[in-house]
Amino acid sequence: MKKDLLDIRDLGRDDFRLIMRRTRELKELRRAGVPHLTLAQRTVGLLFEKPSTRTRASFEAGMYQLGGRVIYMPGRDTQLSRDEPIADTARVLSRYLDGLVVRTFGHEIIEELAAVATIPVINALTDSFHPCQVISDLYTVLEVKGRCEGLKYAWVGDGNNMANSWINAAAVLGLNLVLACPAGFDPDDRVLKSALAAGALVKVVRDPRKAVAGADVVSTDVWASMGQEAEVETRRKTFAGFTVSDELLAGARPGVTVMHCLPAHRGEEITAAVLMGPASVVFDQAENKMHVQKAILDLWLGDGAAARWRNS
Ligand code: CP
Ligand code: NVA
Repeated sequence: MKKDLLDIRDLGRDDFRLIMRRTRELKELRRAGVPHLTLAQRTVGLLFEKPSTRTRASFEAGMYQLGGRVIYMPGRDTQLSRDEPIADTARVLSRYLDGLVVRTFGHEIIEELAAVATIPVINALTDSFHPCQVISDLYTVLEVKGRCEGLKYAWVGDGNNMANSWINAAAVLGLNLVLACPAGFDPDDRVLKSALAAGALVKVVRDPRKAVAGADVVSTDVWASMGQEAEVETRRKTFAGFTVSDELLAGARPGVTVMHCLPAHRGEEITAAVLMGPASVVFDQAENKMHVQKAILDLWLGDGAAARWRNS
């Protein structure tokens, strides 16, 4: 049976542990220069309707390191741009490919692709979620802090796709997460309610200082996501006071770790001093995207994948 990864709620704690363990193995193999061609003869399509630097390059490099191939398909170069139905696209691509990695706008687009495709579909960012990024961020936390659980996580800024995925991670792993968002920019209410129903320790506040107080990990992201370019100016005004600065971090736990999925706007959601300072792990996060996504590709498409997910 194929398994999709549309968001972190598709995973259980055991899946999470499996991804973390496989990531460490693959990262060590790469460091040691040991070939690990587990996906030879496999082909993955990258169907991207939004720009990307890290996610595209890390999936492509990762797939090559695993011995497989990728086909990069910007949405505008496919017949989707000429109104071919999503379902037909999914049917056809399933005949050629072993997996499909998708970056798109509405989450319902990837849901429709996944429902019809007979191959695993992996979310590389939608307007609602960015699961591979948050899994990579949690792998980075594991490296830096030695654990993911039992820490206080703060989110400062927009209640966007990253914030929603952090909430879902809190639901799956039981994390303590406080998000500071301006009024009107809260995370998706259904995501929040569902996490609370699952027993997650998640709270939304208006004051960034409250969120950051005693935090072990502080994350932020751009104030205007891809597709919200027309709102850049108004958002700049609304989000004033939500900059992750040394001043804000003074209230965090000593040794706080600062995260940003990048690209960053220095002087807006984060100061240049914090982004490039000792608390920041942003470039480790970026590197770990490749190791984590390799683990996901290996576990989702590699030998044994069908048996692994048969009962899930
Ligand atoms: N963090 C992230 O997803 O970066 P890209 O948009 O460059 O892929
Ligand atoms: N929230 C951002 C993340 C970019 C990686 C966006 O969707 O543009």
